[in-house]
Amino acid sequence: MESYESNPAEWMKYAQFDQYRYTRNLVDKGNGKFNLMILCWGEGHGSSIHDHTDSHCFMKILQGNLKETLFEWPGKKGTGAMTKKSERVLGENQCAYIHDSIGLHRVENTSHTESAVSLHLYSPAFDNCNTFDQRTGHKHKVKMTFYSQFGERTPGATAVSQENN
Ligand SMILES: [Fe+2]
Repeated sequence: MESYESNPAEWMKYAQFDQYRYTRNLVDKGNGKFNLMILCWGEGHGSSIHDHTDSHCFMKILQGNLKETLFEWPGKKGTGAMTKKSERVLGENQCAYIHDSIGLHRVENTSHTESAVSLHLYSPAFDNCNTFDQRTGHKHKVKMTFYSQFGERTPGATAVSQENN
Protein backbone atom coordinates (compact mmCIF):
# COMPACT_ATOMS: atom_id res chain seq x y z
CA MET A 1 0.00 0.00 0.00
CA GLU A 2 2.87 2.36 0.84
CA SER A 3 4.80 1.71 -2.33
CA TYR A 4 1.94 2.09 -4.80
CA GLU A 5 1.83 5.50 -6.45
CA SER A 6 -1.68 6.52 -7.39
CA ASN A 7 -2.31 6.31 -11.13
CA PRO A 8 -5.94 7.15 -11.97
CA ALA A 9 -5.77 5.24 -15.26
CA GLU A 10 -5.29 2.06 -13.22
CA TRP A 11 -8.22 2.51 -10.80
CA MET A 12 -10.68 4.68 -12.75
CA LYS A 13 -12.98 1.80 -13.70
CA TYR A 14 -13.57 0.99 -10.02
CA ALA A 15 -14.16 4.57 -8.95
CA GLN A 16 -17.94 4.78 -9.22
CA PHE A 17 -19.46 7.69 -7.36
CA ASP A 18 -22.94 8.27 -5.98
CA GLN A 19 -24.45 11.71 -5.54
CA TYR A 20 -25.57 11.16 -1.94
CA ARG A 21 -23.29 8.70 -0.16
CA TYR A 22 -19.77 7.43 -0.37
CA THR A 23 -19.54 4.14 -2.25
CA ARG A 24 -17.65 0.87 -1.67
CA ASN A 25 -16.37 -0.75 -4.86
CA LEU A 26 -14.84 -4.22 -4.75
CA VAL A 27 -11.60 -4.64 -6.71
CA ASP A 28 -10.35 -8.06 -5.60
CA LYS A 29 -11.35 -10.82 -3.17
CA GLY A 30 -7.78 -11.98 -2.61
CA ASN A 31 -8.64 -15.69 -2.91
CA GLY A 32 -10.76 -15.36 0.21
CA LYS A 33 -7.87 -13.92 2.24
CA PHE A 34 -8.67 -10.22 1.96
CA ASN A 35 -10.90 -7.68 0.26
CA LEU A 36 -9.36 -4.87 -1.75
CA MET A 37 -11.77 -2.06 -2.52
CA ILE A 38 -11.98 1.51 -3.69
CA LEU A 39 -14.12 3.99 -1.82
CA CYS A 40 -15.42 7.09 -3.56
CA TRP A 41 -16.23 10.13 -1.47
CA GLY A 42 -18.20 12.99 -2.94
CA GLU A 43 -17.94 16.47 -1.48
CA GLY A 44 -18.93 16.38 2.21
CA HIS A 45 -19.45 12.59 2.30
CA GLY A 46 -18.35 10.76 5.44
CA SER A 47 -18.69 7.47 7.29
CA SER A 48 -20.24 6.83 10.68
CA ILE A 49 -17.96 6.07 13.61
CA HIS A 50 -17.34 2.35 13.19
CA ASP A 51 -15.31 -0.66 14.24
CA HIS A 52 -13.57 -3.22 11.98
CA THR A 53 -14.81 -6.63 13.15
CA ASP A 54 -11.30 -7.55 14.37
CA SER A 55 -9.94 -7.23 10.82
CA HIS A 56 -6.79 -5.35 9.83
CA CYS A 57 -7.63 -2.27 7.78
CA PHE A 58 -5.13 -0.52 5.52
CA MET A 59 -6.18 2.64 3.70
CA LYS A 60 -4.39 4.70 1.08
CA ILE A 61 -5.54 7.97 -0.43
CA LEU A 62 -5.62 7.81 -4.22
CA GLN A 63 -7.10 11.26 -4.83
CA GLY A 64 -8.04 14.24 -2.69
CA ASN A 65 -7.86 14.38 1.11
CA LEU A 66 -9.66 12.48 3.86
CA LYS A 67 -9.95 13.37 7.51
CA GLU A 68 -9.64 10.46 9.94
CA THR A 69 -10.92 10.99 13.49
CA LEU A 70 -10.02 8.34 16.07
CA PHE A 71 -12.28 7.56 19.03
CA GLU A 72 -11.94 5.41 22.10
CA TRP A 73 -14.29 2.47 22.50
CA PRO A 74 -17.30 3.48 24.58
CA GLY A 75 -17.59 2.05 28.08
CA LYS A 76 -19.58 -1.12 28.67
CA LYS A 77 -22.83 0.72 29.16
CA GLY A 78 -22.23 2.79 26.05
CA THR A 79 -23.71 5.95 27.49
CA GLY A 80 -22.37 9.45 27.15
CA ALA A 81 -20.43 11.26 24.48
CA MET A 82 -17.60 9.31 22.89
CA THR A 83 -14.02 10.39 23.55
CA LYS A 84 -12.07 11.71 20.57
CA LYS A 85 -8.43 10.56 20.61
CA SER A 86 -6.99 12.37 17.60
CA GLU A 87 -7.66 13.59 14.13
CA ARG A 88 -5.56 14.08 11.03
CA VAL A 89 -5.93 14.81 7.36
CA LEU A 90 -4.46 12.28 4.97
CA GLY A 91 -3.34 13.52 1.55
CA GLU A 92 -2.76 11.80 -1.76
CA ASN A 93 -0.61 8.66 -1.50
CA GLN A 94 -0.64 8.69 2.31
CA CYS A 95 -1.53 5.48 4.16
CA ALA A 96 -3.28 4.71 7.43
CA TYR A 97 -3.89 1.56 9.45
CA ILE A 98 -6.55 0.72 11.99
CA HIS A 99 -7.57 -2.33 13.99
CA ASP A 100 -10.09 -2.70 16.83
CA SER A 101 -7.19 -2.72 19.30
CA ILE A 102 -6.39 0.89 18.28
CA GLY A 103 -9.96 2.16 18.58
CA LEU A 104 -12.77 3.34 16.33
CA HIS A 105 -12.73 5.90 13.58
CA ARG A 106 -14.73 8.14 11.30
CA VAL A 107 -13.49 8.98 7.80
CA GLU A 108 -14.70 12.09 5.99
CA ASN A 109 -14.13 14.11 2.88
CA THR A 110 -14.60 17.54 4.39
CA SER A 111 -14.00 19.37 1.11
CA HIS A 112 -16.92 21.15 -0.50
CA THR A 113 -15.20 21.34 -3.87
CA GLU A 114 -13.11 18.18 -4.33
CA SER A 115 -14.07 14.53 -4.35
CA ALA A 116 -11.78 11.89 -2.85
CA VAL A 117 -10.89 8.30 -3.67
CA SER A 118 -9.26 5.81 -1.31
CA LEU A 119 -7.94 2.26 -1.60
CA HIS A 120 -8.75 -0.10 1.30
CA LEU A 121 -7.43 -3.51 2.13
CA TYR A 122 -9.22 -5.57 4.79
CA SER A 123 -7.76 -8.82 6.03
CA PRO A 124 -9.64 -10.97 6.74
CA ALA A 125 -12.64 -9.79 4.73
CA PHE A 126 -15.79 -8.90 6.69
CA ASP A 127 -19.25 -7.81 5.67
CA ASN A 128 -20.71 -6.37 8.82
CA CYS A 129 -19.49 -4.05 11.52
CA ASN A 130 -20.85 -1.80 14.25
CA THR A 131 -21.53 1.89 13.94
CA PHE A 132 -21.55 4.13 17.02
CA ASP A 133 -23.54 7.19 17.96
CA GLN A 134 -21.03 9.91 18.89
CA ARG A 135 -23.31 11.45 21.53
CA THR A 136 -24.44 8.28 23.32
CA GLY A 137 -21.85 5.62 22.42
CA HIS A 138 -24.68 3.27 21.49
CA LYS A 139 -23.74 0.77 18.82
CA HIS A 140 -25.69 -0.54 15.91
CA LYS A 141 -24.76 -3.53 13.74
CA VAL A 142 -24.77 -2.87 9.99
CA LYS A 143 -24.32 -5.05 6.94
CA MET A 144 -22.08 -3.64 4.23
CA THR A 145 -22.61 -4.04 0.51
CA PHE A 146 -20.72 -3.15 -2.64
CA TYR A 147 -21.87 -0.43 -5.00
CA SER A 148 -19.88 -2.18 -7.74
CA GLN A 149 -17.80 -5.35 -8.00
CA PHE A 150 -14.90 -5.77 -10.43
CA GLY A 151 -15.97 -2.59 -12.20
CA GLU A 152 -19.65 -3.55 -12.68
CA ARG A 153 -22.56 -2.04 -10.75
CA THR A 154 -24.00 -4.51 -8.24
CA PRO A 155 -27.60 -5.28 -9.28
CA GLY A 156 -30.06 -3.73 -6.82
CA ALA A 157 -27.38 -2.05 -4.70
CA THR A 158 -28.04 1.52 -3.71
CA ALA A 159 -25.62 3.85 -2.04
CA VAL A 160 -28.08 4.21 0.85
CA SER A 161 -27.51 0.61 1.90
CA GLN A 162 -23.76 1.27 2.15
CA GLU A 163 -22.89 1.91 5.68
CA ASN A 164 -19.32 1.65 6.55
CA ASN A 165 -15.78 0.76 6.54
FE1 LIG B 1 -12.76 2.16 8.79
